[in-house]
Amino acid sequence: MIGTTFDEPLHVLDLPQIYKKPSGTELLKALALLTLQPRTFGTSADVVKGPAVQPAGVTRYLTSIISSPLSWLDTEELREAVWDAASARLSERSGRTAMPAMSRIFNIPTSSGEDYTLTLHEPSLTSDNLGMKTWVSSYLLSRRLHKLLESPPELVPSGSTEPSTANTGKPLRALELGSGTGLVGLSFASLKGKAATIHLTDLPEIVPNLAHNAALNVELMNKTEATVTTGVLDWSITPNPLPTAEERFDVILAADPLYSPLHPKLLVDTINPWLSRGLDARVVVEMPLRDAYIPQVQEFRQRMTDLGLAVVEEGEEVGYDDWESASGDALAVKCWWSVWGWSEKV
Ligand SMILES: C[S@@+](CC[C@H](N)C(=O)[O-])C[C@H]1O[C@@H](n2cnc3c(N)ncnc32)[C@H](O)[C@@H]1O
Repeated sequence: MIGTTFDEPLHVLDLPQIYKKPSGTELLKALALLTLQPRTFGTSADVVKGPAVQPAGVTRYLTSIISSPLSWLDTEELREAVWDAASARLSERSGRTAMPAMSRIFNIPTSSGEDYTLTLHEPSLTSDNLGMKTWVSSYLLSRRLHKLLESPPELVPSGSTEPSTANTGKPLRALELGSGTGLVGLSFASLKGKAATIHLTDLPEIVPNLAHNAALNVELMNKTEATVTTGVLDWSITPNPLPTAEERFDVILAADPLYSPLHPKLLVDTINPWLSRGLDARVVVEMPLRDAYIPQVQEFRQRMTDLGLAVVEEGEEVGYDDWESASGDALAVKCWWSVWGWSEKV
């Protein structure tokens, strides 16, 4: 069985063999096991100790994947991801330390106890664009999401004129702001399945990789009957015309969205026109409590409150960023998650 920790290394023949036409997810999981220096957001207990697979035959295994047309896989994006991962594993074995890009695998807990697996492409880490990498608060939020989605709506705006989506049987409309590589939005999509649609958004330079990641996870999206779209939504541009009641969203998600003094105002000014005034409307955010950004977190809280939103649920948790500290240990990061709803008639 393929897992993340091993007492005994596997043999290369235990991995999915090309002649059996394994799925893209199975191949990417196997290729992740062959990473020589794994990086992880989890605690040290999640880190693979020593090689997960015995070295004998690994190079031939990787070559068999790279030379295969992978014609049974659903999309070109999935084929590219498998070839990229196999090439990267081969490069590591050629003494190359800097990879130009990588595909990473994330396990998303579900309420049934079965984990879903998402694959995300992260372009070069030397890129200046923060949305090209997956950040620790989105990892934590993606793991918490199944619990948050089960919470009953508690806050009800008095005298709201818009009906609750829960009562109409229509799919929930969700929007993610600053999606980056898409971990939170794609997790939400797979967890809600056909009960929701979600639009993943970011700046123009980030959206192509975001769309690529949505296509990369087509197997899981099809399996869960999820509906995902991607597009540009720049917080600094006021929508014109303003969204109608039908165009607004029941749920707005955002992870790690505040890292400039302008962001609290931009984010809240974006939430305002796009959030439904319905009974169950929710904003779900998670962000790191880094010292330098505490004033921005406080300003965000104040602006949300001024808008008429109130915290329904909140908490703090610690995650481990995938940047190592100077001592080589995983870097602990305290994060704040919160769920907001309308507190009064707006
Ligand atoms: C720190 S990254 C977090 C990405 C992702 N949510 C995660 O946690 O992995 C912040 C994201 O906000 C996006 N962003 C920053 N300013 C933005 C703006 N004005 N409009 C839309 N997105 C913006 C960035 O492009 C980036 O993807």
